[in-house]
Amino acid sequence: NIAEGSLARAFEKDFYIGAAVSSRTIVSQKELLIGQYNSLTAENEMKFASVHPQERTYTFEEADRIADFAREHGMKLRGHTLVWHNQTPDWVFEDGQGGEAGRELLLERIQAHIEKVVGRYSETVYGWDVVNEAVTDEGEALLRPSRWLKGIGEDYIAQAFRFAHAADPNALLFYNDYNECNPGKRDKICRLVRSLLDEGAPIHGIGLQAHWNVQDPPLGDIRAAIEAYAALGLQLQITEMDVSVFTFQDRRADLAEPTAEMLRLQEQRYRQFFDLFREYSGTITGVTFWGAADDYTWLDDFPVRGRKNWPLLFDERQRPKAALRAVLGTDRT
Ligand code: G3I
Repeated sequence: NIAEGSLARAFEKDFYIGAAVSSRTIVSQKELLIGQYNSLTAENEMKFASVHPQERTYTFEEADRIADFAREHGMKLRGHTLVWHNQTPDWVFEDGQGGEAGRELLLERIQAHIEKVVGRYSETVYGWDVVNEAVTDEGEALLRPSRWLKGIGEDYIAQAFRFAHAADPNALLFYNDYNECNPGKRDKICRLVRSLLDEGAPIHGIGLQAHWNVQDPPLGDIRAAIEAYAALGLQLQITEMDVSVFTFQDRRADLAEPTAEMLRLQEQRYRQFFDLFREYSGTITGVTFWGAADDYTWLDDFPVRGRKNWPLLFDERQRPKAALRAVLGTDRT
């Protein structure tokens, strides 16, 4: 399926090239997805709240549509995500009598959830983001003070990996996080993963979300993070990449289109990132964008609601951008 000259073809000896999709974008971006990418991730459709809204109710229609699309077009599928503090329904943490669910009940619920979801997609999903964003960005503490941590204790992470491995012994299991290149956060992520490895938890890879922008993080911090994670002996995947045209501080909301300077910086950054990833091919086994083209991206609503962003390699009409040519190297020939 993969077109000559496409992204997936250009990197087929290096790593999978993926895009996050929704049950809507597999329709609206169908040709682009099939032509350019060889891996998919469901942006929301496999999350706890989407597939398991009530204790005894599982809703797999939308996730199934994405899994069917991947299978039909011979694409890899990453599973995202099993245990997260976000997009998890309240019932999970309640005991049904007005109180909070205790450790044993919560563990039973994680186990039941993981068995059902991982089991259902064991033929299509080759790897899961088992635990997402458990490390805190703030202060000295290692773990985010989530309801999972409060209800179960620190071992909720290792337990989730064990349940996932039991549900599908062939699946690659990832810990996935953001701000992965911030030196303090990076060190915490390394501590967490090392402790999981020390206690023999079945973890196989680290996901670097890579929500970056035209200025941050500096390339050197990205290289340092890749080096630090690779030193743990695990494979790495870039799981949610985008390069916002706005810096962290830039709160402008009145641009009808990206400026030439934004696009120039974005092109330069994308070129540097893929040159770097290529140096680590073998260690980096997948690069997934958090979207396929600028017609739809979560950044249109974050951090400024309704502000258009243009963070991907294809434009709002799904046409190649200069950044795509830079990544492919076709602007140099
Ligand atoms: O489905 C409802 C819809 O019924 C309702 O009308 C609408 C009104 O706001 O909301 C819809 O839900 C939205 C959902 O996406 C599906 O589109 C939520 O409001 C919105 O908050 C949610 O955002 C998602 C976000 O995770 C939630 O935290 C983004 O699409 C998704 O891109 C984003 O993905 C995360 C990764 O999973 C983890 N890493 C960070 C990344 C970006 O935040």
